[in-house]
Amino acid sequence: MEKYLINPNQKLGTINKNIYGHFSEHLGRCIYEGIYVGEDSDIPNVNGMRCDVVNALKDIKIPVLRWPGGCFADEYHWKDGIGPKENRKKMINTHWGGVVEDNSFGTREFFELCSQLGCDAYISGNVGSGTVQEMSEWVEYMTFDGVSPMAQLRKENGNEQPWNVAFFGVGNENWGCGGNMTPDYYADLYARYATYVRNYDKSKPIYKIACGPSNFNYNWTETLMKKATPYMSGLSLHYYTVDWENMYSSTGFTKEEYDEVLEKSYRMEELVTRHGEIMNRYDPEKRIGMIVDEWGTWYEVEPGTNPGFLYQQNTMRDAIVAALTLNIFNKHCDRVQMANIAQMVNVLQAVILTEGEQMLLTPTYHVFKMYKEHQEQTLLGSYITTSNVEGRKLPKLIESASVSEDGTIISTIVNTSADEAIEIACQIADFSPNLITAEILTGNIDAHNTFENKNAVGTAVFTDFEKTSDGFKAMLPPCSVVKFVIQ
Ligand code: AHR
Repeated sequence: MEKYLINPNQKLGTINKNIYGHFSEHLGRCIYEGIYVGEDSDIPNVNGMRCDVVNALKDIKIPVLRWPGGCFADEYHWKDGIGPKENRKKMINTHWGGVVEDNSFGTREFFELCSQLGCDAYISGNVGSGTVQEMSEWVEYMTFDGVSPMAQLRKENGNEQPWNVAFFGVGNENWGCGGNMTPDYYADLYARYATYVRNYDKSKPIYKIACGPSNFNYNWTETLMKKATPYMSGLSLHYYTVDWENMYSSTGFTKEEYDEVLEKSYRMEELVTRHGEIMNRYDPEKRIGMIVDEWGTWYEVEPGTNPGFLYQQNTMRDAIVAALTLNIFNKHCDRVQMANIAQMVNVLQAVILTEGEQMLLTPTYHVFKMYKEHQEQTLLGSYITTSNVEGRKLPKLIESASVSEDGTIISTIVNTSADEAIEIACQIADFSPNLITAEILTGNIDAHNTFENKNAVGTAVFTDFEKTSDGFKAMLPPCSVVKFVIQ
Protein backbone atom coordinates (compact mmCIF):
# COMPACT_ATOMS: atom_id res chain seq x y z
CA MET A 1 0.00 0.00 0.00
CA GLU A 2 1.37 3.44 -0.95
CA LYS A 3 1.22 6.33 1.51
CA TYR A 4 -0.22 9.68 0.52
CA LEU A 5 0.26 12.68 2.80
CA ILE A 6 -1.52 16.01 2.46
CA ASN A 7 -0.52 18.86 4.72
CA PRO A 8 -3.18 21.61 4.92
CA ASN A 9 -0.83 23.59 7.16
CA GLN A 10 1.61 23.98 4.29
CA LYS A 11 0.15 26.54 1.89
CA LEU A 12 2.47 26.87 -1.09
CA GLY A 13 0.89 29.54 -3.26
CA THR A 14 -1.98 30.17 -5.64
CA ILE A 15 -2.59 27.92 -8.63
CA ASN A 16 -3.02 30.49 -11.38
CA LYS A 17 -6.20 29.72 -13.30
CA ASN A 18 -4.28 30.39 -16.52
CA ILE A 19 -2.43 27.08 -16.09
CA TYR A 20 -5.69 25.71 -17.55
CA GLY A 21 -5.35 27.86 -20.69
CA HIS A 22 -5.78 26.93 -24.36
CA PHE A 23 -4.28 27.71 -27.74
CA SER A 24 -6.05 28.22 -31.07
CA GLU A 25 -4.11 28.71 -34.29
CA HIS A 26 -5.09 29.25 -37.91
CA LEU A 27 -4.12 25.66 -38.51
CA GLY A 28 -6.19 22.91 -40.10
CA ARG A 29 -9.73 22.84 -38.72
CA CYS A 30 -9.07 24.58 -35.43
CA ILE A 31 -10.41 28.07 -36.11
CA TYR A 32 -12.39 27.41 -39.31
CA GLU A 33 -14.97 24.62 -38.84
CA GLY A 34 -13.86 23.86 -35.28
CA ILE A 35 -14.78 27.20 -33.75
CA TYR A 36 -15.87 29.63 -36.43
CA VAL A 37 -18.43 28.54 -38.98
CA GLY A 38 -19.66 31.97 -40.06
CA GLU A 39 -22.97 33.68 -39.40
CA ASP A 40 -24.68 31.99 -42.38
CA SER A 41 -23.83 28.43 -41.38
CA ASP A 42 -26.55 25.82 -40.74
CA ILE A 43 -24.58 24.84 -37.65
CA PRO A 44 -26.12 26.74 -34.71
CA ASN A 45 -23.89 29.72 -33.99
CA VAL A 46 -23.76 33.13 -32.37
CA ASN A 47 -21.97 35.67 -34.53
CA GLY A 48 -20.31 32.79 -36.37
CA MET A 49 -19.04 30.88 -33.29
CA ARG A 50 -20.39 27.32 -32.93
CA CYS A 51 -22.71 27.15 -29.93
CA ASP A 52 -21.89 23.49 -29.13
CA VAL A 53 -18.14 24.17 -28.93
CA VAL A 54 -18.48 27.43 -27.02
CA ASN A 55 -20.82 25.84 -24.48
CA ALA A 56 -18.54 22.85 -23.96
CA LEU A 57 -15.56 25.16 -23.43
CA LYS A 58 -17.49 27.29 -20.95
CA ASP A 59 -18.14 24.12 -18.97
CA ILE A 60 -14.41 23.66 -18.38
CA LYS A 61 -14.03 27.34 -17.46
CA ILE A 62 -11.37 28.17 -19.99
CA PRO A 63 -9.47 31.11 -18.49
CA VAL A 64 -7.31 32.35 -21.38
CA LEU A 65 -6.96 31.75 -25.12
CA ARG A 66 -3.83 32.24 -27.22
CA TRP A 67 -4.22 33.31 -30.89
CA PRO A 68 -3.44 33.52 -33.89
CA GLY A 69 -0.42 31.19 -33.66
CA GLY A 70 1.99 29.41 -33.40
CA CYS A 71 4.06 29.61 -36.52
CA PHE A 72 1.12 31.34 -38.20
CA ALA A 73 1.58 34.34 -35.91
CA ASP A 74 4.92 35.29 -37.46
CA GLU A 75 3.32 35.35 -40.91
CA TYR A 76 0.14 37.08 -39.84
CA HIS A 77 -0.49 40.66 -40.87
CA TRP A 78 -3.33 41.83 -38.69
CA LYS A 79 -4.62 44.49 -41.09
CA ASP A 80 -5.63 41.65 -43.45
CA GLY A 81 -8.18 40.55 -40.85
CA ILE A 82 -10.11 43.74 -40.06
CA GLY A 83 -12.95 45.68 -41.69
CA PRO A 84 -15.70 44.39 -43.98
CA LYS A 85 -15.16 40.70 -44.69
CA GLU A 86 -15.61 41.07 -48.45
CA ASN A 87 -12.58 43.39 -48.52
CA ARG A 88 -10.30 41.16 -46.48
CA LYS A 89 -7.27 39.79 -48.27
CA LYS A 90 -7.02 36.13 -49.14
CA MET A 91 -3.67 34.43 -48.68
CA ILE A 92 -2.12 30.98 -48.68
CA ASN A 93 -1.43 29.50 -45.28
CA THR A 94 2.02 28.39 -46.37
CA HIS A 95 2.93 26.85 -43.07
CA TRP A 96 -0.15 24.74 -42.52
CA GLY A 97 -1.46 22.73 -45.43
CA GLY A 98 -1.18 25.37 -48.18
CA VAL A 99 -4.87 26.20 -47.96
CA VAL A 100 -6.51 29.57 -48.65
CA GLU A 101 -6.86 31.76 -45.58
CA ASP A 102 -9.65 34.25 -46.25
CA ASN A 103 -9.11 36.19 -43.03
CA SER A 104 -12.80 36.04 -42.17
CA PHE A 105 -11.73 35.33 -38.59
CA GLY A 106 -9.66 38.32 -37.51
CA THR A 107 -9.20 40.62 -34.55
CA ARG A 108 -12.85 41.47 -33.98
CA GLU A 109 -13.90 37.81 -34.26
CA PHE A 110 -11.23 36.73 -31.78
CA PHE A 111 -12.46 39.18 -29.17
CA GLU A 112 -16.04 38.09 -29.86
CA LEU A 113 -14.95 34.51 -29.14
CA CYS A 114 -13.20 35.52 -25.92
CA SER A 115 -16.26 37.43 -24.83
CA GLN A 116 -18.53 34.41 -25.48
CA LEU A 117 -16.11 32.16 -23.57
CA GLY A 118 -15.63 34.69 -20.77
CA CYS A 119 -11.86 34.29 -21.03
CA ASP A 120 -8.83 36.56 -21.33
CA ALA A 121 -7.14 37.27 -24.65
CA TYR A 122 -3.53 36.28 -25.29
CA ILE A 123 -2.39 37.73 -28.63
CA SER A 124 0.81 36.57 -30.36
CA GLY A 125 2.49 39.33 -32.34
CA ASN A 126 4.58 39.01 -35.50
CA VAL A 127 8.32 39.51 -35.03
CA GLY A 128 9.53 37.07 -37.72
CA SER A 129 8.10 38.87 -40.76
CA GLY A 130 6.49 41.95 -39.26
CA THR A 131 7.80 45.37 -38.31
CA VAL A 132 7.90 47.14 -34.97
CA GLN A 133 5.42 49.62 -36.41
CA GLU A 134 2.99 46.88 -37.42
CA MET A 135 3.07 45.34 -33.96
CA SER A 136 2.80 48.66 -32.22
CA GLU A 137 -0.15 49.70 -34.38
CA TRP A 138 -1.99 46.46 -33.64
CA VAL A 139 -1.72 47.18 -29.92
CA GLU A 140 -2.93 50.73 -30.55
CA TYR A 141 -5.84 49.43 -32.68
CA MET A 142 -6.92 46.99 -29.99
CA THR A 143 -6.39 48.96 -26.82
CA PHE A 144 -6.22 52.73 -27.31
CA ASP A 145 -9.21 54.74 -26.18
CA GLY A 146 -8.11 58.20 -27.36
CA VAL A 147 -7.61 60.09 -30.56
CA SER A 148 -5.22 58.27 -32.90
CA PRO A 149 -5.15 56.82 -36.40
CA MET A 150 -5.53 53.22 -35.22
CA ALA A 151 -8.24 53.97 -32.67
CA GLN A 152 -10.06 55.84 -35.44
CA LEU A 153 -9.70 52.85 -37.78
CA ARG A 154 -11.15 50.54 -35.13
CA LYS A 155 -14.11 52.87 -34.69
CA GLU A 156 -14.67 53.02 -38.45
CA ASN A 157 -14.81 49.23 -38.35
CA GLY A 158 -17.66 49.36 -35.86
CA ASN A 159 -15.81 48.92 -32.59
CA GLU A 160 -16.14 52.08 -30.56
CA GLN A 161 -14.65 50.63 -27.38
CA PRO A 162 -11.14 49.20 -27.15
CA TRP A 163 -10.67 45.59 -26.14
CA ASN A 164 -8.66 44.26 -23.25
CA VAL A 165 -5.42 42.54 -24.26
CA ALA A 166 -4.40 40.81 -21.06
CA PHE A 167 -1.37 39.02 -22.55
CA PHE A 168 0.80 39.81 -25.56
CA GLY A 169 3.47 37.47 -26.94
CA VAL A 170 6.33 39.15 -28.79
CA GLY A 171 6.95 36.53 -31.45
CA ASN A 172 6.68 32.74 -31.43
CA GLU A 173 9.41 30.12 -31.70
CA ASN A 174 11.81 32.73 -33.02
CA TRP A 175 14.58 30.13 -32.78
CA GLY A 176 12.69 28.22 -35.52
CA CYS A 177 9.61 29.00 -37.62
CA GLY A 178 9.59 32.55 -36.23
CA GLY A 179 12.80 33.59 -37.99
CA ASN A 180 15.58 31.08 -37.12
CA MET A 181 17.23 33.59 -34.80
CA THR A 182 20.02 33.17 -32.29
CA PRO A 183 19.05 33.87 -28.66
CA ASP A 184 21.25 36.99 -28.58
CA TYR A 185 19.70 38.44 -31.69
CA TYR A 186 16.16 37.66 -30.52
CA ALA A 187 16.78 39.06 -27.02
CA ASP A 188 17.77 42.40 -28.57
CA LEU A 189 14.80 42.34 -30.92
CA TYR A 190 12.51 41.43 -28.04
CA ALA A 191 13.57 44.47 -26.05
CA ARG A 192 13.01 46.67 -29.06
CA TYR A 193 9.58 45.31 -30.08
CA ALA A 194 8.35 45.09 -26.49
CA THR A 195 9.14 48.78 -25.96
CA TYR A 196 6.42 49.67 -28.43
CA VAL A 197 3.81 47.35 -26.96
CA ARG A 198 2.41 50.38 -25.15
CA ASN A 199 0.27 50.32 -22.06
CA TYR A 200 -2.40 52.77 -23.16
CA ASP A 201 -4.62 51.89 -20.23
CA LYS A 202 -2.34 52.24 -17.22
CA SER A 203 -4.87 50.47 -15.02
CA LYS A 204 -4.52 47.31 -17.12
CA PRO A 205 -0.86 46.92 -18.08
CA ILE A 206 -0.27 44.31 -20.77
CA TYR A 207 1.56 41.19 -19.59
CA LYS A 208 4.39 40.90 -22.13
CA ILE A 209 5.69 37.45 -22.97
CA ALA A 210 9.06 36.83 -24.57
CA CYS A 211 9.62 33.81 -26.77
CA GLY A 212 11.35 31.23 -24.64
CA PRO A 213 13.03 27.93 -25.39
CA SER A 214 11.81 24.69 -26.73
CA ASN A 215 12.58 21.51 -24.84
CA PHE A 216 16.03 21.40 -23.31
CA ASN A 217 17.51 24.56 -24.85
CA TYR A 218 18.79 26.00 -21.56
CA ASN A 219 21.10 28.41 -23.33
CA TRP A 220 18.07 30.21 -24.79
CA THR A 221 16.60 30.72 -21.32
CA GLU A 222 19.95 31.86 -19.93
CA THR A 223 20.45 34.43 -22.69
CA LEU A 224 16.93 35.81 -22.55
CA MET A 225 17.04 36.14 -18.77
CA LYS A 226 20.48 37.74 -18.90
CA LYS A 227 19.58 40.31 -21.56
CA ALA A 228 15.85 40.98 -21.43
CA THR A 229 14.58 40.41 -17.88
CA PRO A 230 13.60 44.07 -17.28
CA TYR A 231 11.33 44.15 -20.32
CA MET A 232 9.34 40.98 -19.84
CA SER A 233 6.51 39.77 -17.61
CA GLY A 234 6.76 36.17 -18.78
CA LEU A 235 8.99 33.80 -20.71
CA SER A 236 7.47 31.01 -22.75
CA LEU A 237 8.41 27.33 -22.94
CA HIS A 238 7.28 24.85 -25.59
CA TYR A 239 7.36 21.12 -25.09
CA TYR A 240 5.60 18.50 -27.17
CA THR A 241 5.53 14.77 -26.50
CA VAL A 242 6.70 13.64 -29.90
CA ASP A 243 9.25 11.41 -31.61
CA TRP A 244 10.10 13.06 -34.94
CA GLU A 245 12.10 10.01 -36.09
CA ASN A 246 9.33 7.56 -35.48
CA MET A 247 5.97 9.27 -35.17
CA TYR A 248 3.61 7.54 -32.77
CA SER A 249 0.15 6.60 -33.84
CA SER A 250 -2.68 8.21 -31.87
CA THR A 251 -4.62 4.93 -31.49
CA GLY A 252 -3.87 1.21 -31.71
CA PHE A 253 -0.53 1.47 -29.89
CA THR A 254 1.27 -1.08 -27.70
CA LYS A 255 1.83 -0.91 -23.95
CA GLU A 256 5.48 -0.22 -24.75
CA GLU A 257 4.49 2.88 -26.71
CA TYR A 258 2.04 3.93 -24.01
CA ASP A 259 4.82 3.83 -21.41
CA GLU A 260 7.21 5.64 -23.73
CA VAL A 261 4.80 8.51 -24.40
CA LEU A 262 4.06 8.95 -20.70
CA GLU A 263 7.74 8.81 -19.79
CA LYS A 264 8.41 11.54 -22.36
CA SER A 265 5.54 13.64 -21.07
CA TYR A 266 6.81 13.32 -17.53
CA ARG A 267 9.99 15.12 -18.63
CA MET A 268 7.94 18.28 -18.18
CA GLU A 269 8.90 17.98 -14.49
CA GLU A 270 12.59 18.20 -15.39
CA LEU A 271 12.03 21.04 -17.86
CA VAL A 272 10.05 23.21 -15.49
CA THR A 273 12.58 22.56 -12.73
CA ARG A 274 15.71 23.22 -14.77
CA HIS A 275 14.48 26.21 -16.76
CA GLY A 276 13.06 27.45 -13.44
CA GLU A 277 16.48 27.17 -11.79
CA ILE A 278 17.96 29.42 -14.48
CA MET A 279 15.12 31.90 -14.05
CA ASN A 280 15.67 31.85 -10.27
CA ARG A 281 19.21 33.12 -10.70
CA TYR A 282 18.07 36.24 -12.56
CA ASP A 283 14.67 36.63 -10.93
CA PRO A 284 14.78 35.25 -7.39
CA GLU A 285 11.57 37.13 -6.54
CA LYS A 286 9.76 35.07 -9.18
CA ARG A 287 8.25 38.13 -10.82
CA ILE A 288 8.58 36.62 -14.28
CA GLY A 289 6.12 33.86 -15.10
CA MET A 290 7.03 30.69 -16.89
CA ILE A 291 4.42 30.49 -19.64
CA VAL A 292 4.19 26.99 -21.10
CA ASP A 293 2.16 28.25 -24.03
CA GLU A 294 2.41 25.09 -26.14
CA TRP A 295 2.34 21.58 -24.71
CA GLY A 296 0.77 18.23 -25.44
CA THR A 297 1.07 15.11 -27.56
CA TRP A 298 1.95 15.21 -31.25
CA TYR A 299 1.27 12.05 -33.28
CA GLU A 300 1.01 10.92 -36.88
CA VAL A 301 -2.10 12.53 -38.42
CA GLU A 302 -5.24 10.45 -38.88
CA PRO A 303 -5.04 8.40 -42.10
CA GLY A 304 -6.44 10.24 -45.12
CA THR A 305 -6.25 13.71 -43.54
CA ASN A 306 -4.09 16.64 -44.72
CA PRO A 307 -0.65 16.18 -43.07
CA GLY A 308 -0.51 19.95 -42.59
CA PHE A 309 -3.71 19.93 -40.51
CA LEU A 310 -2.28 17.95 -37.54
CA TYR A 311 -5.58 16.20 -36.86
CA GLN A 312 -5.22 13.31 -34.39
CA GLN A 313 -7.40 11.13 -32.17
CA ASN A 314 -7.21 11.37 -28.41
CA THR A 315 -7.27 8.40 -26.05
CA MET A 316 -7.02 7.56 -22.37
CA ARG A 317 -3.26 7.82 -22.87
CA ASP A 318 -3.72 11.53 -23.68
CA ALA A 319 -5.93 11.93 -20.62
CA ILE A 320 -3.10 10.55 -18.49
CA VAL A 321 -0.63 12.91 -20.18
CA ALA A 322 -2.90 15.87 -19.47
CA ALA A 323 -3.55 14.84 -15.87
CA LEU A 324 0.09 14.25 -14.95
CA THR A 325 1.19 17.45 -16.70
CA LEU A 326 -1.42 19.57 -14.94
CA ASN A 327 -0.35 18.06 -11.62
CA ILE A 328 3.22 19.09 -12.43
CA PHE A 329 2.12 22.64 -13.26
CA ASN A 330 0.04 22.86 -10.08
CA LYS A 331 3.05 21.83 -8.03
CA HIS A 332 5.22 24.48 -9.73
CA CYS A 333 2.64 27.25 -9.39
CA ASP A 334 5.26 29.50 -7.81
CA ARG A 335 6.81 29.87 -11.29
CA VAL A 336 4.35 28.50 -13.86
CA GLN A 337 1.82 31.26 -14.37
CA MET A 338 0.18 30.05 -17.55
CA ALA A 339 0.04 27.00 -19.81
CA ASN A 340 -1.84 26.53 -23.07
CA ILE A 341 -2.51 23.04 -24.33
CA ALA A 342 -2.04 22.66 -28.09
CA GLN A 343 -4.58 22.98 -29.47
CA MET A 344 -8.17 23.62 -28.47
CA VAL A 345 -10.19 22.00 -31.29
CA ASN A 346 -9.26 19.48 -34.04
CA VAL A 347 -5.49 19.99 -33.79
CA LEU A 348 -2.94 17.88 -31.84
CA GLN A 349 -4.07 17.14 -28.24
CA ALA A 350 -7.48 18.72 -28.67
CA VAL A 351 -10.18 18.79 -26.02
CA ILE A 352 -12.85 18.82 -28.74
CA LEU A 353 -13.12 17.16 -32.17
CA THR A 354 -15.70 18.11 -34.76
CA GLU A 355 -17.00 16.56 -37.96
CA GLY A 356 -19.48 18.76 -39.82
CA GLU A 357 -22.20 19.58 -37.33
CA GLN A 358 -21.09 16.87 -34.91
CA MET A 359 -18.85 17.44 -31.90
CA LEU A 360 -17.24 15.09 -29.40
CA LEU A 361 -15.42 15.63 -26.14
CA THR A 362 -12.08 13.85 -25.87
CA PRO A 363 -10.65 12.12 -22.77
CA THR A 364 -8.37 15.17 -22.38
CA TYR A 365 -11.49 17.36 -22.14
CA HIS A 366 -12.71 15.30 -19.20
CA VAL A 367 -9.43 15.87 -17.36
CA PHE A 368 -9.77 19.64 -17.76
CA LYS A 369 -13.32 19.37 -16.44
CA MET A 370 -12.22 17.32 -13.43
CA TYR A 371 -9.34 19.67 -12.65
CA LYS A 372 -11.14 23.00 -13.09
CA GLU A 373 -11.69 23.34 -9.35
CA HIS A 374 -7.94 23.71 -8.84
CA GLN A 375 -8.11 27.10 -10.58
CA GLU A 376 -7.14 29.93 -8.20
CA GLN A 377 -7.00 27.57 -5.22
CA THR A 378 -4.11 27.32 -2.78
CA LEU A 379 -1.57 24.59 -3.46
CA LEU A 380 -1.00 22.35 -0.45
CA GLY A 381 2.12 20.46 0.50
CA SER A 382 1.59 16.81 -0.48
CA TYR A 383 3.65 13.70 -1.08
CA ILE A 384 2.95 10.21 -2.35
CA THR A 385 5.20 7.17 -2.09
CA THR A 386 5.50 5.40 -5.43
CA SER A 387 7.74 3.19 -7.50
CA ASN A 388 8.49 3.80 -11.16
CA VAL A 389 6.88 1.95 -14.06
CA GLU A 390 9.27 -0.91 -14.79
CA GLY A 391 12.27 0.19 -16.86
CA ARG A 392 11.01 3.78 -17.11
CA LYS A 393 11.72 7.09 -15.44
CA LEU A 394 8.02 7.43 -14.80
CA PRO A 395 6.37 7.35 -11.36
CA LYS A 396 3.29 5.19 -11.22
CA LEU A 397 1.49 7.78 -9.10
CA ILE A 398 1.56 11.54 -9.68
CA GLU A 399 -0.64 13.86 -7.63
CA SER A 400 -1.38 17.38 -6.51
CA ALA A 401 -3.68 18.83 -3.86
CA SER A 402 -5.20 22.25 -3.29
CA VAL A 403 -7.61 23.89 -0.88
CA SER A 404 -10.38 26.41 -1.46
CA GLU A 405 -11.25 29.33 0.76
CA ASP A 406 -14.02 27.33 2.43
CA GLY A 407 -11.50 24.61 3.37
CA THR A 408 -12.52 22.00 0.77
CA ILE A 409 -9.50 19.99 -0.37
CA ILE A 410 -9.24 18.81 -3.98
CA SER A 411 -6.79 16.03 -4.71
CA THR A 412 -6.13 14.74 -8.21
CA ILE A 413 -4.14 11.53 -8.55
CA VAL A 414 -2.98 9.76 -11.70
CA ASN A 415 -2.16 6.07 -11.88
CA THR A 416 0.06 5.90 -14.97
CA SER A 417 0.49 2.13 -14.81
CA ALA A 418 -1.11 0.34 -17.75
CA ASP A 419 -2.00 -2.79 -15.82
CA GLU A 420 -1.59 -2.37 -12.07
CA ALA A 421 -4.27 -1.24 -9.64
CA ILE A 422 -2.60 0.54 -6.72
CA GLU A 423 -3.89 0.83 -3.18
CA ILE A 424 -3.21 4.07 -1.35
CA ALA A 425 -3.72 5.26 2.21
CA CYS A 426 -4.13 9.01 2.50
CA GLN A 427 -3.48 10.91 5.73
CA ILE A 428 -4.36 14.57 6.03
CA ALA A 429 -2.51 16.40 8.79
CA ASP A 430 -4.68 17.88 11.57
CA PHE A 431 -7.81 17.14 9.60
CA SER A 432 -10.75 14.87 10.08
CA PRO A 433 -12.91 14.59 6.97
CA ASN A 434 -16.69 14.80 7.23
CA LEU A 435 -17.53 14.03 3.66
CA ILE A 436 -15.48 12.70 0.74
CA THR A 437 -16.75 12.32 -2.80
CA ALA A 438 -14.73 11.13 -5.78
CA GLU A 439 -14.81 11.00 -9.56
CA ILE A 440 -12.85 8.78 -11.94
CA LEU A 441 -11.77 8.73 -15.56
CA THR A 442 -10.43 5.36 -16.66
CA GLY A 443 -10.42 2.88 -19.53
CA ASN A 444 -8.18 0.81 -21.73
CA ILE A 445 -5.01 2.61 -22.64
CA ASP A 446 -6.26 3.44 -26.12
CA ALA A 447 -9.96 3.88 -25.31
CA HIS A 448 -11.35 6.92 -27.13
CA ASN A 449 -14.52 8.60 -28.26
CA THR A 450 -15.62 8.47 -31.89
CA PHE A 451 -18.45 10.12 -33.79
CA GLU A 452 -20.19 6.73 -33.73
CA ASN A 453 -19.69 6.30 -29.97
CA LYS A 454 -19.18 9.67 -28.35
CA ASN A 455 -19.37 8.44 -24.78
CA ALA A 456 -17.01 5.48 -24.78
CA VAL A 457 -14.78 7.39 -22.35
CA GLY A 458 -16.20 9.66 -19.69
CA THR A 459 -16.13 10.34 -16.00
CA ALA A 460 -18.02 8.32 -13.40
CA VAL A 461 -18.63 8.49 -9.69
CA PHE A 462 -15.80 6.64 -7.90
CA THR A 463 -16.76 4.54 -4.92
CA ASP A 464 -13.81 2.20 -4.39
CA PHE A 465 -12.58 4.09 -1.35
CA GLU A 466 -13.25 4.23 2.36
CA LYS A 467 -13.13 7.29 4.63
CA THR A 468 -10.82 7.00 7.63
CA SER A 469 -10.46 9.17 10.73
CA ASP A 470 -7.77 11.32 9.09
CA GLY A 471 -8.16 10.68 5.37
CA PHE A 472 -9.14 7.75 3.18
CA LYS A 473 -8.00 4.47 1.66
CA ALA A 474 -8.58 3.79 -2.02
CA MET A 475 -7.79 1.37 -4.80
CA LEU A 476 -6.81 3.27 -7.94
CA PRO A 477 -7.41 1.27 -11.13
CA PRO A 478 -4.68 1.14 -13.80
CA CYS A 479 -4.63 3.98 -16.34
CA SER A 480 -6.86 6.22 -14.27
CA VAL A 481 -7.31 9.76 -13.03
CA VAL A 482 -9.18 10.11 -9.74
CA LYS A 483 -10.32 13.32 -8.08
CA PHE A 484 -11.17 13.38 -4.39
CA VAL A 485 -13.20 16.26 -2.94
CA ILE A 486 -12.63 16.30 0.80
CA GLN A 487 -14.69 18.37 3.24
O1 AHR B 1 1.05 23.80 -32.46
C1 AHR B 1 1.62 23.55 -33.72
C2 AHR B 1 2.91 24.30 -33.93
O2 AHR B 1 3.89 23.80 -33.07
C3 AHR B 1 2.90 25.78 -33.64
O3 AHR B 1 2.44 26.53 -34.72
C4 AHR B 1 4.34 26.07 -33.39
O4 AHR B 1 4.53 27.17 -32.52
C5 AHR B 1 4.88 24.77 -32.84
O5 AHR B 1 6.04 24.37 -33.46
